[in-house]
Amino acid sequence: MVLCGYEAVKEALIDLGEGFSQRSSLPVLERSVKGCGGCARVHVQNLGMGKRSIEDRVQEEVCCHVEELRKTNTSPCDPTFILSCAPCNMISSIIYQNRFDYKDQTFLNLMEKVKENLRILNSPWSVLYLIDSCFLFQVCNIFPVLLDYFPGSYNTFLKTFAQMRSYTLEKTREHQASLDINNPQDLIDFFLIKMEQEKHNHQSEYTLEILTVTIADLFAAGTETVSTTLRHGLLLLLKHPDVTAKIQEEIDHVIGRHRSPCMQDKSHMPYTDAVVHEVQRYSDLVPTNLPHAVTCDIKFRNYLIPKLSKVYGPVYTVYLGLEPAVVLHGYEVMKEALIAAGEEFSGRGHFPMAERVNKGHGIIFSNGKIWKETRRFSLMTLRNLGVGKRSIEEHIQEEARCLVEELRRTNASPCDPTFLLSCAPCNVICSIIFRNRFDYTDPNFLTFLGKFNENFRILNSLWIQACNNFPALIDYLPGSHNKVFKNFAYVKSYILEKVKEHQASLDVNDPRDFIDCFLIKMEQEKHNHQMVFTLENLIATAVDLFRAGTETTSTTLRYGLLLLLKHPDVTAKVQKEIDSVIERHRSPCMQDRIHMPYTDAVVHEIQRYIDLVPISVPHAVTRDIKFRNYLIPKGTTVLTSLTSVLRDDQEFPNPEVFDPGHFLDESGNFKKSDCFMPFSTGKRVCVGESLARMELFLFLTSILQKFTLEPVIDLKDIDTTPISRGLSHVPPSYQLRFIPV
Ligand code: HEM
Repeated sequence: MVLCGYEAVKEALIDLGEGFSQRSSLPVLERSVKGCGGCARVHVQNLGMGKRSIEDRVQEEVCCHVEELRKTNTSPCDPTFILSCAPCNMISSIIYQNRFDYKDQTFLNLMEKVKENLRILNSPWSVLYLIDSCFLFQVCNIFPVLLDYFPGSYNTFLKTFAQMRSYTLEKTREHQASLDINNPQDLIDFFLIKMEQEKHNHQSEYTLEILTVTIADLFAAGTETVSTTLRHGLLLLLKHPDVTAKIQEEIDHVIGRHRSPCMQDKSHMPYTDAVVHEVQRYSDLVPTNLPHAVTCDIKFRNYLIPKLSKVYGPVYTVYLGLEPAVVLHGYEVMKEALIAAGEEFSGRGHFPMAERVNKGHGIIFSNGKIWKETRRFSLMTLRNLGVGKRSIEEHIQEEARCLVEELRRTNASPCDPTFLLSCAPCNVICSIIFRNRFDYTDPNFLTFLGKFNENFRILNSLWIQACNNFPALIDYLPGSHNKVFKNFAYVKSYILEKVKEHQASLDVNDPRDFIDCFLIKMEQEKHNHQMVFTLENLIATAVDLFRAGTETTSTTLRYGLLLLLKHPDVTAKVQKEIDSVIERHRSPCMQDRIHMPYTDAVVHEIQRYIDLVPISVPHAVTRDIKFRNYLIPKGTTVLTSLTSVLRDDQEFPNPEVFDPGHFLDESGNFKKSDCFMPFSTGKRVCVGESLARMELFLFLTSILQKFTLEPVIDLKDIDTTPISRGLSHVPPSYQLRFIPV
């Protein structure tokens, strides 16, 4: 919502000031500041902002500044650098107590970093980060992961921010060493004293993290703004010598030539005061201001502006590329769409990239008859092959034993579990599709897995989103999407080779795996003219099962271990349950789960908390449909926010907290929840749900039965914030030790 004109802006920001005071979501800034910042104002006032002491500091800086200008010896010069030094030094003196010489290397570095970040935020790419009206920004809001990959300087921004942070931390340590609590000298001193006073308050806003962010805020907000205004001001004075002459006349008259100007002079210098105002008015430094958000639902003129957390209500439209997409938010609306109107909402959204690879075949990205028949056949075949039954359970148990052996080989030394945790689920799918599992060192297996991992990484990238939203890019620009096609070509040819081997040894009365079952179905349907069961569809379906069934499960396992590391109390309770129900020597099995309510709750909580696929895979409506007063035309993309259900605060109090209690009743029994929807719901619900749930339970209990998890860093430093949000939530990389029990 854009507010234009004095009356509207005044009404919102003054008359309804409190209601409009929230800062709107800016993903790029949020990632760097992680929601911190903001308590500097009171400290800056303590340091004399608006009083004499700050004025003294400004005057001192002005003298140095004039000296520097004198050194230009009246030769032509670009004033940018010198004009930036003075405001930067002002902020330095407020924060660090001292000003710097304009040639000081630390000062130059600091200024460079502030400038670099402001330059990035001012670049054309910043449209993505800052301006709401841009449709790409909306994509970034839904897929903030895009920020990582966009060919802008976003990563430089984060890096520079990190460097500024470490400089501040170093300075803070120096301040800590010499702090006199009765005589605070600068903002850091004030903050440290407040931190000490509030050290027993767990919700205190006075933490080192907030201090560093506040300092970055002050530099960002207080240097380039002032220096750009000064620069623009000088340019305007150059252009208007008559105005300049009148100011100088006033200066001669009120201040004279030898003493420093002071704030008292202002009231005697109306013309100069007017010029400074006019420079600010004319240069209009921050034209659209920083975005605000409302703090509660507000009726403003004839509009109802809903609070940020429910900005657009349960059903709203965003633009992906040039196409509108409807977003569904919250359990009720999701149930109404995906279950009550299941058929209409069962279409798959448009994925130009996937369409090139799958050509309308397979399950995940297909539609209509091909989707329906392939999905029905796959579900039935998975069941026949033992998914949800004992036989597949035995495969998973066998795989869990191999995984435990591999983990044992790490000899309790620090290791990143990513690779081993992706081998195990991949092997489970291999055993379903090809009948056999592979050794974790088998070169064929490694290449095959490598191609999938690489594609997962690329497909989660912004570049691919751009290709999906602007399909013309696929043909005309070089990029990693070509790598995706190459990798899929490799995977397909590998599967084709396996299919040929199967064809040569097929016994129609004794199908061994998914490929055999599909070949038999192909044979049965060969006279059907609308052939769904073709070789091409077999390969696309096998690829789909691999891509849907490996990274999903392995990322959940990896994230799960990280959460268990961070919460040793939870891990200890799971291990206690394992000791009492399974004991040490036999393999965990699915029957154990009913006797292990706590462990069951932990596995559910891991899936709820990590919210692996926040907006699921885009759906589409299969015909024009009237839904809650909206007419949604056939083919419109529908994004289902699983996050909104998994983080429902009515169902899960404190949804941002990892707490297995979300799935336990008062007596410690497992408590089911309709809002547990990590696999989505309705006609497109995950085909591998029961397989994945078996794997998660068996792999996690097998690991905890045999090992104690030991972190390699301090508990409080373990960060569980996902490193990419958007298409999927991925945990930050980490190491741990598997200590045999
Ligand atoms: C923790 C593990 C997993 C999670 C969180 C997960 C989640 C999901 C989600 C959210 C969807 C999209 C549903 C929709 O469009 O509404 C999906 C689809 C799908 N999943 Fe899974 N999945 C997991 C494991 C698996 C496994 C192991 C398999 C392999 C058998 C699998 C096969 C599929 C397939 C084939 C689809 C496409 C369904 C369709 O379009 O009709 N998934 N999954």
